[in-house]
This record gives sequence, structure tokens and C-alpha cells, in this order.
Amino acid sequence: MRRYLCLALVATSLLWAAAAVAEENAAVSKESAKPVRGPDCVYVGTPYDVIDKMLDLAAIGKDDVVYDLGCGDGRIVVAAARRFGCHGVGYDIDPQRIKEALANIDKNRVEDLVEVKQEDIFTLDLSQTDAVLLYLLPSMNKRLIPQLMKLKPGSRIVAHNYDIEGIVRDRSVTFRSLEDGVNHYLFVYTAPLEKESTKP
Ligand SMILES: C[S@@+](CC[C@H](N)C(=O)[O-])C[C@H]1O[C@@H](n2cnc3c(N)ncnc32)[C@H](O)[C@@H]1O
Repeated sequence: MRRYLCLALVATSLLWAAAAVAEENAAVSKESAKPVRGPDCVYVGTPYDVIDKMLDLAAIGKDDVVYDLGCGDGRIVVAAARRFGCHGVGYDIDPQRIKEALANIDKNRVEDLVEVKQEDIFTLDLSQTDAVLLYLLPSMNKRLIPQLMKLKPGSRIVAHNYDIEGIVRDRSVTFRSLEDGVNHYLFVYTAPLEKESTKP
């Protein structure tokens, strides 16, 4: 009987020890893992002819580094790399989109030029990019202003369908896509950004 009691005691201690280690590991991985949250908008891909127009308006050159904030399947950065041989970085918070973007990079053999990262765009340092392409909600464009203010002088922004409220734009263009037969509105900005005057 004493033997069984001893064995039960040892087994219980081992379980406690294992549980303590598991709890400790969970705390460590909780600390080191990137905070994960859902996207701030759903995924809708920009038609390819609209992408071409956006790249023209952003005056992309071979030496540019192009960012797509909320890159979806990576079509914009892939198109820029294929057309101009420039570097592209796509950021998306949704792991499924990142998977699709990696497949797209692979399919188009632009792995030397394009990378994608699973990041929250509102945490990014944008000081190293030459061109930022956006297809986000108006509230998201607005929330990005403090980061966009830090773009290096001469960097261009082209925003699809929604402007950056409160910021002076260079121009806006309406483009009818042959792919979806719909008008798309494109807004062009150059850094340093200037806030619109609030004076009457
Ligand atoms: C309208 S789609 C545009 C996709 C792509 N730029 C295009 O034009 O084809 C917006 C993308 O932003 C991503 N997104 C939303 N909130 C985000 C956030 N906080 N950080 C990074 N990506 C985000 C979504 O997952 C989605 O793929």
C-alpha cells in the first residue's frame, strides 16, 4: 500500500513540474510572439490596369524601393518589380495574404527584388521608401499620416479610391478600368506632405 502511495506522490509531483514548465514556456512565447490581430479592412485586389496607372503616377524608376501597405496577394509590388526591376516590399497583417503573396513572388520569379512581411502597417518606419502605394479605407489613410509625414523628401504616394484626408495632393486622376468597367480614383502626393489649411 505504501509503495502505491509513494508512486502516486511521485506521479503527482512530475505532473506539477511539467505543468509549471509548460506555463513558463507559454509566458515566454507570449512575450516573444508578435501581437496578432485581425485586419482593419477586407482584401480587395486592385485591377492590373489600375496598378499600371498607379505605377505611372508614382513615377517609379529602377532604383526605387516601393512599399505597398496592406499588400494583399502582392500584385502591386510584383508588378512594379516586373515592369521596372525595382525593389518592392509588401506588408500585410493577414497570414493568408502573405502566403498568397509569397506564391505570387515565386510564380513571377521576382524573389530577388520583392519581399513581403506580416506586419501591422501602423507600426512601420516609412523613412526608407521612395514610393508608397495605398488601397485602404479613408480612416486608415488618415491614421497613417504621422508615419507618412516622415517620408523622405521626394517620395511619392499614390492612394487608390480614397484620398488622404487633410493632406494637400499634387493631383487626382479618374481612370476607367477595362478589367471591371468601373471608374477608379487615384490621388497623388509628394513628400514632404503639407497639411491643408483649416483657415476659411
Ligand atoms: C483593399 S486590400 C488591398 C490589397 C492590395 N494593396 C491591392 O491593392 O491589390 C487591403 C489589405 O490591407 C490588409 N490590412 C488591413 N489592415 C492591415 C493592417 N493593420 N496592417 C497590415 N495590413 C492590413 C488587408 O489584409 C488587405 O489585404
